[in-house]
Amino acid sequence: MSVAIYPGSFDPITNGHLDVIDRGRRIFDRLIVAVLRNPSKAPLFTVEERKIMIEETVRDFPNVEVEVFDGLLVAFARSRNCRVILRGLRAISDYEYETQIALINRKMAPEVETIFLPTSTEYSYLNSTMVKEIARFGGCVQGLVPPGVEKRLREKFKSWA
Ligand code: PNS
Repeated sequence: MSVAIYPGSFDPITNGHLDVIDRGRRIFDRLIVAVLRNPSKAPLFTVEERKIMIEETVRDFPNVEVEVFDGLLVAFARSRNCRVILRGLRAISDYEYETQIALINRKMAPEVETIFLPTSTEYSYLNSTMVKEIARFGGCVQGLVPPGVEKRLREKFKSWA
């Protein structure tokens, strides 16, 4: 049975992430979406909120699970007996950062391979930071994030006002 981990901060999940999940779930028998509890930047959403938003989004994908992880990604992969890390590549600008992470992870855990999936061109410009900025200033994020996330972004920023 092939298993892959798709890790990230997912603060919040975007349609670009969803595109990678949807394609990844067709390649692997099981896909674990792994949400990092402690990203270096203070997240907008708690890890529980981020996990729930992903769970709502992947509800119809039976071979996709969502888990929270702390610490090193390769340690989490080993704990799940998983040898594949899946990452989306949006533009060439992602390549350098992603390669650095992949190589350091390989140094720590040579048995774990990183596989890059190019995101659909439709989402190649999209990231969570932009989505949060648009929502914070009252812009429309429809089509950029799943509907449940759109709603939560609206609620979050309304409560800030
Ligand atoms: O969505 P992001 O923020 O680009 O995801 C980055 C992530 C979570 C994949 C990366 O920060 C990560 O794996 N963090 C866990 C700590 C770790 O294992 N770091 C790798 C060595 S620097």
